[in-house]
Amino acid sequence: MKASETKATLSFSNGGQNVELPIYKGTMGPDVIDIRKLYAQTGMFTYDPGFMSTASCESAITYIDGDKGELLYRGYPIEQLATNCDFLETCHLLLYGDLPNAEQKTTFTKLVTNHTMVNEQMQFFLRGFRRDAHPMAIMTGLVGAMSAFYHDSTDITNPKHREIAAIRLIAKMPTLVAMAYKYTVGQPYMYPKNDLSYAGNFLHMMFATPCEEYKVSPVLERALDRIFILHADHEQNASTSTVRLCGSSGTNPFAAIAAGVACLWGPAHGGANEAALNMLYDIQKAGGVEKIGEFIKQVKDKNSSVKLMGFGHRVYKNYDPRAKLMQETCREVLGELGLENDPLFKLAMALEKIALEDEYFVSRKLYPNVDFYSGIVQRAIGIPVPLFTAIFALARTVGWIAQLNEMIGDPDYKIGRPRQLFEGSSKRDVKPIAQR
Ligand code: CMC
Repeated sequence: MKASETKATLSFSNGGQNVELPIYKGTMGPDVIDIRKLYAQTGMFTYDPGFMSTASCESAITYIDGDKGELLYRGYPIEQLATNCDFLETCHLLLYGDLPNAEQKTTFTKLVTNHTMVNEQMQFFLRGFRRDAHPMAIMTGLVGAMSAFYHDSTDITNPKHREIAAIRLIAKMPTLVAMAYKYTVGQPYMYPKNDLSYAGNFLHMMFATPCEEYKVSPVLERALDRIFILHADHEQNASTSTVRLCGSSGTNPFAAIAAGVACLWGPAHGGANEAALNMLYDIQKAGGVEKIGEFIKQVKDKNSSVKLMGFGHRVYKNYDPRAKLMQETCREVLGELGLENDPLFKLAMALEKIALEDEYFVSRKLYPNVDFYSGIVQRAIGIPVPLFTAIFALARTVGWIAQLNEMIGDPDYKIGRPRQLFEGSSKRDVKPIAQR
């Protein structure tokens, strides 16, 4: 952390003593005011529900400039990673800090590939779920259960354990997501095929059956790989912060990642792509492109709770760079599948155009986010809607682990323990039951 020459001074209107607070500069982005000694110096806490103005940690992994619409993993623009690298190279980058050279890529790919199978016992655990269980309920359970299967990688304070847990999680998530899917449709699980790529293997485990040969389409494989890259990390979002907080108690990595999966499940976080797709279906059912005007009117109506799903973002106040890449992939996938005239895609394009020209959206800086097109791509690939968030969890696992390992490796790390503004009853005595 680089201290700035500028310092912040906190003064109190009641004449209390001023407090000088250090300011630190990052490589990019806003400076931070260090308030760690504030309580000791003033007996006061800061109040910031939702972390609107609070940096919860130091990190060197992902950087977002919301005004410019820029997303960097370890300094590399997402556009360059999505066009020049594959997901496993991105995993190497997020985990170890740099892109692999050819030899490192081979070694890393081999390492991940060697761990794609899950313990055979896992399928009996899976059988405990109802067939109609939500895939995220299954994933929360299965990922947490991994701590019961891999005892040699549960010590979060041991760097070797952390590394092998990271590889196991990255390697086994696709197997688990595909197993959850196969279980809900009643088809036999397909074992991983290690001569396929990471994304190709996932497609195989999802869509192959033991009865027929399944050929992985290179276009769909590339599309899925891109979905994985675009979702791999996104700085200190809700699920990542959950993983950090959970891991800060010293719990094992599988338990911490299971906490992240549970957080991601929420509709305000991982569920937006599903909501965006359902919104397009609804407009389609109501009459399609002609009904966009009416729909936009509802969205702008202060008295309605209708939102243009897949639009707007807490951090991006410009076009989400992932949305541009996803739109490109969408065209490619629909072209490959002969769905160029897909009415849902046409509807999405028309909706986007109208919204981007509308004063309501322009003045509020509301632009398409990654979820606007990712649902259309996943639906075209054949992924069922309830599985969308599980795919997000699969892709985000590497980001969660990189962030967790960064925190544990930091000599200054402490258990996360926020404080509160207490508004409940002051101290009182328990009365005998007859007098209450
Ligand atoms: N449709 C219509 N109006 C919107 C939308 C939208 N999608 N998003 C924001 N607004 C309006 C909002 O009503 C408010 O208007 P006003 O100033 O008149 O009250 C203004 O824009 C600011 O909105 P906000 O809710 O204060 O913005 P926020 O930064 O707190 O919310 C958001 C961000 C993502 C929750 C919100 O934009 C939203 O609900 N979008 C739709 C859901 C969605 O697509 N979510 C996916 C996010 S990307 C996934 C990821 O990166 O994890």
